[in-house]
Amino acid sequence: MFNDDVRKRDVKTPTIVQEVWHDGEFIKWNDARVHVMSHVLHYGSSIFEGIRCYKTRRGPAIFRLREHMQRFLNSAKIYRMEHPWSLEELCDASVQLVARGGLQQCYVRPIMFRSLDEERPAFGVNPFPNPMACYIGAWDWGKYLGDEAIEQGVDVCVSSWNRLTPNSMPAMAKAGANYMNSQLIKMEAITNGYAEGIALDDRGYVSEGSGENIFLVHDGKVVTPPLASSILPGITRDSVIEICRALEIPLVESGIQRAALYVADELFFSGTAAEITPIRSVDRITVGAGSRGPVTERIQKAFFEITSGEREAPGEWLTFVGEYKPAAENNGHNRAQGGGARKAASHAPTSDSRDAVHVTLTE
Ligand SMILES: Cc1ncc(COP(=O)(O)O)c(C=O)c1O
Repeated sequence: MFNDDVRKRDVKTPTIVQEVWHDGEFIKWNDARVHVMSHVLHYGSSIFEGIRCYKTRRGPAIFRLREHMQRFLNSAKIYRMEHPWSLEELCDASVQLVARGGLQQCYVRPIMFRSLDEERPAFGVNPFPNPMACYIGAWDWGKYLGDEAIEQGVDVCVSSWNRLTPNSMPAMAKAGANYMNSQLIKMEAITNGYAEGIALDDRGYVSEGSGENIFLVHDGKVVTPPLASSILPGITRDSVIEICRALEIPLVESGIQRAALYVADELFFSGTAAEITPIRSVDRITVGAGSRGPVTERIQKAFFEITSGEREAPGEWLTFVGEYKPAAENNGHNRAQGGGARKAASHAPTSDSRDAVHVTLTE
């Protein structure tokens, strides 16, 4: 049915940053450990983020750092996690970690979880007695769905597992426990010879991949499921929405029937790990011409030009590590446009709204 190579395949991990940020300090990678009786291991009580740092001509630049950290704080708030960390401190810590690691490009992983107070241990489901721990690690991570996937696309299936229902687990929080659902979707897909699975929501509408949002192109119009379809409000999804706006490609958020996937002109995934990955077949039904479509290619090209700093972003999306000043010393001037332009474009969001990721909180 499947061989071990397929089951064990993951992105090659060439380099790991040998320090980890922990509660305000940098510790050695090897010292970043938890007790096996920590609450998080038994009850899934963690929230986390996945952030990419890209190589640019101005040195490493973290993509949409504030938006990721704002989502991190939102996830903590949803799960009533009390902690002392501010948006600025978490951004500062991430930049420092990347700078200390010396990598030109990497993936940054903040995580906050309920641990164990070894002097006054608590073992019940009630999370409140357990202390909070916060770490940020980083490593160089390649193309999540394979090097060739970015151009050629991936073969995917519709999963027999549904996405979380809104009143059981909030999909808009990026919580570790949600990824048990993602693992079921991913394992089923891999076991059956697909690169990824697409989950439907509890009403049967298209939701998202195990670790990606999804977009459909039909008659030149781009469609993506709304937040009400139990999706994670993806930062890359928001970037695609903004890129479509800038390229004047019409886009709507709308419920999508499973069958619409089969007859779409183009489909693609968006995500920090997957970036913009075309989908060439669903359930062995070829999508469009069976390769990356022209609209996907335009959006993907703009995305990679922005992340490499070669094209002006629709907002202040890049935090240049080498030019960064800690929050206490700056006046909000850490992020800049790509392409060397330092002044925000006239349509860039104001400082009040710039951390708001484009989400429609209702249908
Ligand atoms: C379930 C799920 N949906 C969507 C995404 C895409 O979100 P983002 O673009 O913020 O990485 C991810 C990845 O983080 C994910 O895990």
